[in-house]
Amino acid sequence: MDQSSRRTILKAGLAASLTAGVPALAQEVRPPVFAGMHTPKPLTFDPSKLVGLSERLVMSHWENNYVGSVNALNMIEERLAKAMQDPDVHQLVYAGLKREELHRTGSVILHELYFEGLGGDGQPTGGMAIGIAQAFGSFEAWQAEFMRTARALGGGSGWVMLSYNLYTKSLHTYWAPDHMHNATMGVPLLALDMYEHSYHMDYGTKAMQYVDVFFKNVDWKIVNQRYTRARRMSEI
Ligand SMILES: [Fe+2]
Repeated sequence: MDQSSRRTILKAGLAASLTAGVPALAQEVRPPVFAGMHTPKPLTFDPSKLVGLSERLVMSHWENNYVGSVNALNMIEERLAKAMQDPDVHQLVYAGLKREELHRTGSVILHELYFEGLGGDGQPTGGMAIGIAQAFGSFEAWQAEFMRTARALGGGSGWVMLSYNLYTKSLHTYWAPDHMHNATMGVPLLALDMYEHSYHMDYGTKAMQYVDVFFKNVDWKIVNQRYTRARRMSEI
């Protein structure tokens, strides 16, 4: 049997298995993995109350960049669902879809971690404060290392994360040049967006002024909860 005939039979078989005995409406149901039903999470704080970050900047970031990524992820999942029924999608087209799936998934999750980590008083608390001091020598030493990492990204783009690594069972400051470079087994506890869109409206090119005010708004209670959850996960 030639390749073309094999593909035709495969497509027919796949289509038949998807449609056999199924009412027309149900044929539109996608597999859960490509449901494309992500919905934006609302801000958990009053954007007019942050220290040193304007409501205009925060709302623009949330609406245009975060919600934009949620919508894009839904669209990519819709296309991946359709591609499951079409074995003839070219591998280069499929590569683009898979790359964009990874890119948008990272963007959505990291933005949610970023926004949910804001709205606090900037005062480290609980086990997280102790854990940072034990891992880095002191909270101030960690903060200096985190800011140094952010400075290395200033003028570029990407993320700085305080993460708990499930494999090494230890805290780290990880650097990510885009939405797709999370350290293997690293669970982000605190995420700092260093893409220009997160500060340029208020601070122009003065990225480190933005990093200073970021720390004044961190909700360490949330970060502490994430740390507790991550340590539990590492024991499973
Ligand atoms: Fe962003």
